[in-house]
Amino acid sequence: MDAIEVIRAKRDGARRGELSTGQIDWVIDAYTRGEVADEQMSALAMAILLNGMNRREIADWTQAMIRSGERMDWSMLDRPTADKHSTGGVGDKITLPLAPLVAACGAYVPQLSGRGLGHTGGTLDKMESIPGWLASLSNDQMLHVLREAGAVVCAAGSGLAPADKKLYALRDVTGTVESIPLIASSIMSKKIAEGTGSLVLDVKVGSGAFMKTTETARELAETMVALGTDAGVRTVALLTAMDRPLGRAVGNALEVEESVEVLAGGGPSDVVELTVRLAREMLEAAGVSGKDPERALKDGSAMDAWRRMISAQGGDPDGLLPRAAETMVVEVPESGVLTRLDAYAVGLAAWRLGAGRARKEDPVSFGAGVMLHAKPGDVVRAGQPLMTLHADETSRFERALEALAGGYEVGQASSGDLLPLVIDRITA
Ligand code: URA
Repeated sequence: MDAIEVIRAKRDGARRGELSTGQIDWVIDAYTRGEVADEQMSALAMAILLNGMNRREIADWTQAMIRSGERMDWSMLDRPTADKHSTGGVGDKITLPLAPLVAACGAYVPQLSGRGLGHTGGTLDKMESIPGWLASLSNDQMLHVLREAGAVVCAAGSGLAPADKKLYALRDVTGTVESIPLIASSIMSKKIAEGTGSLVLDVKVGSGAFMKTTETARELAETMVALGTDAGVRTVALLTAMDRPLGRAVGNALEVEESVEVLAGGGPSDVVELTVRLAREMLEAAGVSGKDPERALKDGSAMDAWRRMISAQGGDPDGLLPRAAETMVVEVPESGVLTRLDAYAVGLAAWRLGAGRARKEDPVSFGAGVMLHAKPGDVVRAGQPLMTLHADETSRFERALEALAGGYEVGQASSGDLLPLVIDRITA
């Protein structure tokens, strides 16, 4: 077999470009070993983006990427495992309260997370704002934290789906990220290799998400649920709103602070509602009928699990979180009802303030971000604070304000066209 034959088959093959299982296995393996060159894989990724893949091809592609590395195994644990994956959004800190909450309710949560790129934040960047906390753990250390706290959140090691690691970096620079077969296989190869017994997918919809419409989000969710189910992982997906930011805090340390409020029984209602809903879905998928998540947030048991999880990874749960040196208040322009607060505009502003990175090797500012003082639907008065911008240098404020221009609207009545927080539930 050779790469050109596989590229041509996807480009214009007799059966509308369908790749055989043998062709997929070969090309993923040869690419991982460096025998298929980056430029050849780029051409194939573009042919896939343009011509798509059917369910069988996506399943074969996912399995081949899993086989390119190790598959983790948690069968030595005495309770079921459950994980959650979000397709990414603005202010999406849900993993932080959710992982210890589900642990406090009786399931183990082994979660491999990523860093942010572009306007969406990454869980590891948020957690790294906690003094001393370590993202990189060996498999033995992961097991130790799981046994200690019931939940672990850490970076995926280089042995997990290395084919995806190479391919994702290539897609990022060749305009081939936005392909549902490639996104679904990329996410699910890592989640299946991670060894979780059950998985809840939070597929975000709206301006601040990968998927801008409910239709494309549904297609991605259905594809991922089918992949998980076929691989023996009990998988459910929720489609959830990302037309406005989640909660009030956007930015690394600011989001940790808000997550701790949720674990202390408070916090913004949308963050609490989604955390509890996802926890119930995870416990149901894992077949655990222990404690009710709402109670575990009120009685301190989720907070106890959080503190154990942070300490077991070298962090200080009482440590002072970094704060940005400079702040700037943006005021409400006129009295009325806040009818729109665009997730992408706020995410872009937080990114320009220093909370995110442009290239994956860039550092992030832990203290930078946006604190919202009003959410869509709130009655607001002219001159009251709408949001506070946080940055290490005042020079960042101008570009953040440019990102926010046109990103919010005050009207005379709530327009009612906000997406519901949970739009739909997708099962196999
Ligand atoms: N996240 C991933 O892990 N892969 C993609 O392709 C897109 C988002």
